[in-house]
Amino acid sequence: MKGLFVVTVASEKGGVGKTTIATNLAVYLKALNENLPVTIASFDNHFSVDQMFALGPRSEGTVADLLAEKWNDQAVRFGQYGVQYIPSERRLIPPHKPSEWLRKRLAGLGLEGILILDTRPILDWFTEAALLAADLVLAPVKDRASLINAGALRKVLDDHGRTASLWLVPSLVDARSRLNGEVRVHEFLRFAAAERDYQVVDTQINKSPKVESLASGFSSRIPSVLTHARGTIVHGQFRELAEFVLAKYMDSSRSERPESVSSGLSEGPHLAGKRLVAECPVCCQNSLSGSGHFYFELRSRRSGWLHPGCLADQFDGFELFSFDLSDGLVAMVIDGPGLLEIEPRLSLHLFDASGDLVVTESCSLSEEGGVGALVEAMLGRPLHQAYHELILVCFDQADILQQVSPEGRSAWRGVRRKVLRELRLAGLF
Ligand SMILES: Nc1ncnc2c1ncn2[C@@H]1O[C@H](COP(=O)(O)OP(=O)(O)OP(=O)(O)O)[C@@H](O)[C@H]1O
Ligand SMILES: [Mg+2]
Repeated sequence: MKGLFVVTVASEKGGVGKTTIATNLAVYLKALNENLPVTIASFDNHFSVDQMFALGPRSEGTVADLLAEKWNDQAVRFGQYGVQYIPSERRLIPPHKPSEWLRKRLAGLGLEGILILDTRPILDWFTEAALLAADLVLAPVKDRASLINAGALRKVLDDHGRTASLWLVPSLVDARSRLNGEVRVHEFLRFAAAERDYQVVDTQINKSPKVESLASGFSSRIPSVLTHARGTIVHGQFRELAEFVLAKYMDSSRSERPESVSSGLSEGPHLAGKRLVAECPVCCQNSLSGSGHFYFELRSRRSGWLHPGCLADQFDGFELFSFDLSDGLVAMVIDGPGLLEIEPRLSLHLFDASGDLVVTESCSLSEEGGVGALVEAMLGRPLHQAYHELILVCFDQADILQQVSPEGRSAWRGVRRKVLRELRLAGLF
């Protein structure tokens, strides 16, 4: 059994579903893998965790012991559904320690498997410490306000080089409601989140009256979605969310091993937490040697390599490709029909090695085959499902493309951010 994997559920916004996600995630993780130790604790002063998991009389240890000088392992209790829980505390006092300290503390407790931390809707010492202790941060977003609020979490993580752990989870999604009568709220959220360069989990948690009723009775017990709302869509969505977390947990032990790469163009295992496609999207032959042009799709974070010859064939006749591309990067902006049923267009923006915009060119994507087929292969979905998408294609930036090394990943994030900023400033994305 490997060491502890910490999942923190956080948002500064109240009532976005943090506690519902944290508690039910614990139940679903255990249901998916009964041999995996799953522990949950909350830094909130509500007792929802206890209401869902407590068995037997209240004991001495609480979550305050996680922060005390001396660890009391009696604080971890065996609870409902096979989930271990640490009883909550009404009044928690932050220790006189920097918030980074909690990460080391948790690693030294001898806990195994997955620890889920629920947090308060404020960015206090506890939330910050839980963010920095996390291998994976799930931030529920239900509307524009909570999306904007996620910026505060990202800032904390950014400042400590831990941005990659942050994933947004569309939550309390009303599947029927639309913005301006056209765009579904969750589609807008995904679009707006990708535009801000957030990672968003592929699933979402819908708003469900059944789920709401579970926590709103007068009973001292809160039942789980798994046992009391199996017939709902949310049941399947929690399963998917738990599968995502489980995959991250598994990945965490082999993230440095390139052989975990997916085969085929289908969605598959991740390399260093990203979806890596094994074949060139033009010729469908293996392109994992890493010597071609690297591409990255912003929304789903698919990436892979294109054979240089294959790319040249597709863009034969484009003026932009007659420029010197060495160490440059092309941003492909796709305006798909997904949101507004418009005719799809592709705009290409060439950036030089220092990140300055050199030239722009655009074309229609409505014809069958050719560039349209290439775009679909890079997006990993049909063009009619494309909204406002961005694919970056890098030319020979070998040093930043060592995606398996933490330095390579961080350099690549820097390049991506700079290009996104330039595109926004120029009103191109
Ligand atoms: N998927 C859902 N469908 C319907 N109601 C939900 C769903 N998820 C949560 N709720 C309800 O929304 C309310 C807020 O949920 P929850 O307590 O999980 O949010 P929170 O972010 O933890 O709130 P706080 O910031 O106050 O801790 C609760 O009444 C809960 O029952
Ligand atoms: Mg809560």
